Amino acid sequence: MQWVGYAELASAVSNAGGLGIITALTQPTPADLSKEIARCRKMTSKPFGVNLTLLPSINPPDYGAYADAIISSGIKIVETAGYSPGVVIKKFKDAGCYVIHKCTTIRHALSAVKLGADCMSIDGFECAGHVGETDITNLILLSRARQELGRLGIPFIASGGFADGQGLAAALALGAEGINMGTRFMCTVEAPIHANIKKAIVEASEDDTELVLRRWRNTSRLFKNKITVEVVKIEKESQTGKFEEVQPLMSGQRGRQVFQNGDKDFGVWTAGQVIGLIHDVPTCAELVERIENEALETLQSKLGFANGNSSSDSAQNAASTSKIEGGKIEGGIEDAKQDQLQANENHPQAQLWGVGEAKKRGSKL
Ligand SMILES: Cc1cc2nc3c(=O)[nH]c(=O)nc-3n(C[C@H](O)[C@H](O)[C@H](O)COP(=O)(O)O)c2cc1C
Repeated sequence: MQWVGYAELASAVSNAGGLGIITALTQPTPADLSKEIARCRKMTSKPFGVNLTLLPSINPPDYGAYADAIISSGIKIVETAGYSPGVVIKKFKDAGCYVIHKCTTIRHALSAVKLGADCMSIDGFECAGHVGETDITNLILLSRARQELGRLGIPFIASGGFADGQGLAAALALGAEGINMGTRFMCTVEAPIHANIKKAIVEASEDDTELVLRRWRNTSRLFKNKITVEVVKIEKESQTGKFEEVQPLMSGQRGRQVFQNGDKDFGVWTAGQVIGLIHDVPTCAELVERIENEALETLQSKLGFANGNSSSDSAQNAASTSKIEGGKIEGGIEDAKQDQLQANENHPQAQLWGVGEAKKRGSKL
């Protein structure tokens, strides 16, 4: 996370049992990044990773040099994100790193697999930052990832919109191996940002984000404030459509200062819709433990799992799902579907739900 992913937060997340991530480009030079990695090693003995984000920029940073700093510092887990990651993915793979590529579409995920990435971080439209241009939320995107990446044996984690154990349980149910959280970790004791910004997140609702730069196909989800409202106004009303009209308002440096001076309206800063689910500022350890407990409770009470063993119903459901996705629909499942159709057909609401229509057309549920 730009201007947030320093050693303080990465080490706290790793010490809590997660995988902390340092943001490479938050460091002004590759040499500073090497120092930050060394600093993080002093704060945790647990594994942590580094994110390298490749974004369109008038003066792009020397991505190759940042990648070299990551490799020569002995980092073994890298998260890549952004445009044309092929060159850096190759560099990391040649150096024996495990590469998690973060993306917002299945098309990009499949390309990253071809480029050699080991794991995907699937970022739904709810997410903070670069949401992409397809606007697919995680309920669909994660299941599509399960369908497409599952066939290839590529694991994925769910990113965007996660703050609690109910979310983690949902992500696991949809096929993810775990969750990635950005905004939620911003609002922890150890996040090295001003307390006023954490307070602003706690007080915000899920309506308080804004999408900017859609006109230039570089859509970003930001915390809604005076500046984003102005950016969106210019974006809508500009006769010229020139990016230069909003450029000064979008200054990354002013965004950085927001996190230091605590004035939420001083510049633009990134946050996801998940702000609506964040109501406190725990330590990373408290947060991770709470999420684990909530997820376990949810899996046990709602999905019928206990101590890692599934009840027979849940196991059957899981088996049915995978058979459907594998294209082999077996008799038992078909029978169950027919039973369900018949039950629904006689339900007074069936027509409203479209079930009656589906039955008439002979479609499958
Ligand atoms: C303040 C902030 C800065 C971020 N900067 C980056 C970044 O530099 N590179 C990147 O790949 N993702 C960045 N992200 C996105 C997160 O890594 C993550 O994908 C996203 O926050 C997930 O959505 P969530 O906020 O709903 O958890 C940032 C997120 C936040 C909140």
